[in-house]
Formats: sequence, structure tokens, C-alpha cells
Amino acid sequence: MTATRSRALLPTLWATALLALARAPEASVASQVVAPITGHPAELIAGVSAPPLGLPEVPRPDQNPLTAAGIDLGRKLFFDRRLSFNRTLSCAMCHVPEQGFTQNELRTPVGIEGRFVKRNAPSLLNVAYRQVLFHDGREDSLENQVWQPLLRSNEMANPSIGVVLNTIREAKDYAGLFEAAFEQGLTAQTVGMALASYQRVLLAANSPFDRWHFGNEPDAMGEAAIRGWTVFRDSGCIGCHTVAGNHAHFTDDAFYDTGIGYARSFGPGREAQRVRLAPGVEIVPEVQFDQPEASDLGRYEATGRSADRWLYRVPTLRNVAITAPYMHDGSLPDLEAVVDHYQRGGIAHPGLDPRIRPLALSEQDRHDLVDFLRSLTGSSIEHLVRDARSQPIGDAQ
Ligand code: HEC
Ligand code: HEC
Repeated sequence: MTATRSRALLPTLWATALLALARAPEASVASQVVAPITGHPAELIAGVSAPPLGLPEVPRPDQNPLTAAGIDLGRKLFFDRRLSFNRTLSCAMCHVPEQGFTQNELRTPVGIEGRFVKRNAPSLLNVAYRQVLFHDGREDSLENQVWQPLLRSNEMANPSIGVVLNTIREAKDYAGLFEAAFEQGLTAQTVGMALASYQRVLLAANSPFDRWHFGNEPDAMGEAAIRGWTVFRDSGCIGCHTVAGNHAHFTDDAFYDTGIGYARSFGPGREAQRVRLAPGVEIVPEVQFDQPEASDLGRYEATGRSADRWLYRVPTLRNVAITAPYMHDGSLPDLEAVVDHYQRGGIAHPGLDPRIRPLALSEQDRHDLVDFLRSLTGSSIEHLVRDARSQPIGDAQ
């Protein structure tokens, strides 16, 4: 894309951003009269102790035991718009409960004041099980992760940890809550602990697939989806989107190159720009100068190793039917497009994972595969949304 075209695009981007803010799901929900539903943290803790069919024991760090007070406080923080610098943006506006705790309307969410965020927001359903966080795996603890959105200038844009702590300290409705939930009271650590506690209980499994495969209920899954499960295994999907003997995460939490990241940098119309350092010595710079959007080098951004360029974490496929759009950049709008991507063999280039190769799936196979992916939606979604909406939105007051 040329610089001129990118300037011409800017007003459109702004219009999209403003439209998105106007449509922000928080706003519409807040203005409706919603019947009050009480959150049931005790029930949520019970769900963690006995996870839904298809999920193993939930990892629970000793330093942050799950308590009802911690979950309630985390939920309150998650929905609090005051936690962003200009008091407009909550976690829940990019991780929308009704939209699979991600955002279905935009490829990549819009940050504070309409700022560009380069990656698609992952669903937070089952995030308790992720061994690495973010598409590039640059964080591995939910407790620490929260400071990234809170402080990033294009997300919630707080200038410091102290500013966030002061905001909470000054909000009357938080009086005593941190002290009740944590011995230390309000600290940078306990903000992370509370938000992590809430996110850790967002479990969604016991899907038609789980009931059919792990629960031995022959009628739980339709015939097309059952055929799709065979296509899924025979096409090698299961090599990265893994299924164990008694549970399934549909991810091995590792990083691979499927061509999406490369295409974003160098795909059609974006030829690699080479820079001549000396006669006969040319390099492809990490950052391409003609790209208006931030470059995205995937796992490299967490490790600095050039072999890690364009590798992305394998996303879970649980609940995938409700978490469109897909891939780290949200570039594929629906499951059919994802299956077409794999049918073509990803995007050929040096570095493509050897397991991504053209498939010869019939139209029926592709349809069945999509049906299988649709059978992975958990049975607790509605419940989690109701629980989430038991929380009044934290707003300027
Ligand atoms: C402006 C939109 C936005 C806001 C606000 C936001 N997030 Fe996110 N979130 C994202 C995006 C985009 C990513 C992926 C970023 C990446 O991979 O580099 C992400 C990633 C995450 C992840 C990692 C999930 C995974 O599977 O790796 C967690 C956990 C998370 N966010 C929780 C939160 C919490 C808690 C808050 C509030 C404190 C929050 N987010 C606020 C957009 C947002
Ligand atoms: C070599 C490992 C590998 C194999 C094999 C593989 N995938 Fe993936 N899959 C990935 C990675 C990595 C991503 C994320 C890519 C990105 O974010 O750019 C992904 C993304 C996806 C997504 C998007 C999920 C989301 O939330 O964005 C779906 C759906 C999917 N794969 C289905 C499949 C199917 C169906 C097959 C078999 C035809 C398959 N995958 C084979 C590694 C693999």
C-alpha cells in the first residue's frame, strides 16, 4: 500500500473507529433495562473444581487461591470503563461476553480514542489453560498480563501503574473491597490477581463433541460433524490443534507459521522490500517502510530470534464458531474461509510449516469439517454471559 493511499484511508479508519465506539456493546447494554441477576461466584468456583466435560483440572497458582471475593472484584474491574485513561474503555469492550469474550464486529479492536490495535482479541473462554498468553506468547501469567492492556498507549493508555491504582483508590465503590479480598489490600499485584481470578472461571466445554467423544453419547453430535471429525484427523489438523485421551484443548500452545503473518507483510501487492547494505549484500528489513499498519512479526516479538518471525500461537478451537473473525489479524471472516485457507495449503513461502500443504478435500468434506468446528461450542456460554452482566458497568461518577 502506498503512503498516498494510506493517507486517503485515514478518514475511513476514523469513521470505522467512531462507528465502533458508537456501537460499543457496553453502551447499548448499559442503556437497556436489564433484569438484575446476581453473579454466583460459589457456583463458578464449583465449576473450576469440577470442570465441564472435555476439560482437565484447571491450573490454579498457589499464590492466588480462588475466592468468591476475588472473582467478584475481578468481574467488577473487568467491566469498569474508569480503568482506561479517559474513562471510556473497559476490558469487556474488546472481550465482549455476548461475542465469545472477543469482538466479532471488527478484525482488530479499536483502542482508546479510536487507536489502531494490530491484533485480533483472543477469546477469554478457557484462558485459564493457556501456557502462554498473547498471539506471540510474550506473557505467561494472567496475573501479570493485565498490565499490558492497562498501560499500552493504543489500548487503555494509562501513563503508569500509579495512575491506575489512584483511580481505583479514589472510586468510592471500591472502598474496602480489595482489603476484603486480599491481605495486602490494593496493590499492582492484587489488581492482577483479581482480574485473573475472574478470567480463570470462564470455562466453556461440555460441547456436542465432548458429549459424543468423551461422554459416549452417540446422539450428541450430528452425522456431518462426526464425518468432519474424521476429516479433521485425516487432514493433520489434530497435529497442532491437539486432542488428548481424556480431554481436549485443540491447541498445543506452540507456535507455527501458517502463512498468515507472512502474507500480511509480503503478500500480494506487498513485495518484500530489500535494502542494499553493501555490494552483493542485501537484507529484508524487519520493518517494511511502506506499511501504514504496524508490522507484525509474531513470536519474534517475544524472543527476538529471527527464526521466530511469523510464527503465531495455535489458537484453541473450542467455541470457535462464536469467536469470528479468525487468525491473529482477524483476516479470515468465517470458518469456511479458514477451511479454504488450509485447502490451498496456507500461503506458500519459505518457512511455512511443512504440515500445512494443499489438501484435496471435496466440497462435502469441507462442509463436514466446518460442521465439526461448530460442534465445539460449550454449554455454559449463556450462563457466563448472564453472570458477566450481573455486574453493573463501572462508569464516571
Ligand atoms: C483495545 C482492546 C482491548 C482491551 C481494552 C483489552 N484487551 Fe485483552 N487483548 C486484546 C488484544 C488485541 C489481545 C491480543 C494481543 C496480542 O496478542 O498481542 C488481547 C489479549 C488478551 C489476553 C491474552 C489471551 C490469550 O489467549 O493469549 C488476555 C488474558 C486479555 N487480553 C485480558 C484483558 C484484560 C483483563 C483487559 C482489561 C484490563 C483487556 N484484556 C483489555 C484487546 C484488548
Ligand atoms: C502446523 C500447525 C497447524 C495445523 C496442521 C493446523 N493449524 Fe489451524 N492454526 C494454526 C495456527 C498457528 C493458527 C493461528 C494462525 C494465526 O493466528 O495467524 C491456526 C488457526 C486456526 C483457526 C482459527 C482460530 C482462531 O480463533 O482464529 C482455525 C479455525 C483452524 N486453525 C483450524 C484448522 C483446521 C481445520 C486444520 C486442518 C485442516 C488446521 N487448523 C491445521 C496451526 C495449525
